[in-house]
Amino acid sequence: MERIPAGLKGRSFLSLLDISTQELEELLTLAALLKSGDLKPRCNKVLGLLFYKASTRTRVSFTVAMYQLGGQVIDLNPNVTQVSRGEPLIDTARVLGRYLDVLAIRTFAQADLETFKAYSGIPIVNALSDLSHPCQALADLLTVQEAFGELAGRTLTYVGDGNNVAHSLMLGCAMAGMNVRVACPPGFEPAKEILDQTIAIAAARGTEVTVTHDAIAAATGAHALYTDVWASMGQEDLANDRIPVFQPYQLNEDLLAKADPNAIVLHCLPAHRDEEITDGAIEGPQSRVWDQAENRLHAQKALLLSILGPDA
Ligand code: CP
Ligand code: NVA
Repeated sequence: MERIPAGLKGRSFLSLLDISTQELEELLTLAALLKSGDLKPRCNKVLGLLFYKASTRTRVSFTVAMYQLGGQVIDLNPNVTQVSRGEPLIDTARVLGRYLDVLAIRTFAQADLETFKAYSGIPIVNALSDLSHPCQALADLLTVQEAFGELAGRTLTYVGDGNNVAHSLMLGCAMAGMNVRVACPPGFEPAKEILDQTIAIAAARGTEVTVTHDAIAAATGAHALYTDVWASMGQEDLANDRIPVFQPYQLNEDLLAKADPNAIVLHCLPAHRDEEITDGAIEGPQSRVWDQAENRLHAQKALLLSILGPDA
């Protein structure tokens, strides 16, 4: 079982910055191995899922990953627990920590994840916050790795909103030695803190980070084009006003024609066809979107196994 990185045991995963570049590489290698079926470890532990926002992929992939490892999952829907009736987070965290082995949380404030980490005494996994979506980035990088073999030196371009998905992707790409470009409308740039962290990592690895308002320049020669919704969960009221603002950043066939001929198309899903991505792009031959969604399962299984450790 030496292929399961022991260094992550007992640790939380709230951000890509919680792991080293070497640990990222080891997680991706393990995820690929698990996907191949050549390693079938067991891990009879209990995962809790506390999701304050909707989810299809994250919820189901975490659940199936744990079942395939021989573990158990408890769905802690906030509406059917005392959480929705105002029990303090610090109390909930302390109690859940007495029952569960690991807890994945989808919430609004990144700070709530830190609170759970501080009070629960068990590893906490970020299943999406307003700031970041690090589990998504693991699957994204696994998908690029499958397409190109080597991540280092490749260029990924993200077009659209500088949001949670963009943030984790930027950090992950920089850690993997990739060049990362973000093209977004003025006012929708990634958070300065995340950009600064990405630039620092890229400087150490000798790669480039670009944030621009020019989608065509950003897409030119890229090995992967990636987009996400123009209005994230919690921003539904803003969605219609954003459509004309974001239209020049749509991932469509014209933009794809500017990229490397072997470029792949990525989207974390759920997608709004003919808003941030055209039907032709998501359904076309360069799309790896469905592999990307599948890879959530393999990447998170690798993460859970590393955090919990395999059964003896
Ligand atoms: N990409 C992603 O996190 O999807 P869900 O919201 O369905 O979990
Ligand atoms: N940015 C999106 C991602 C959904 C998986 C959101 O937060 O709604």
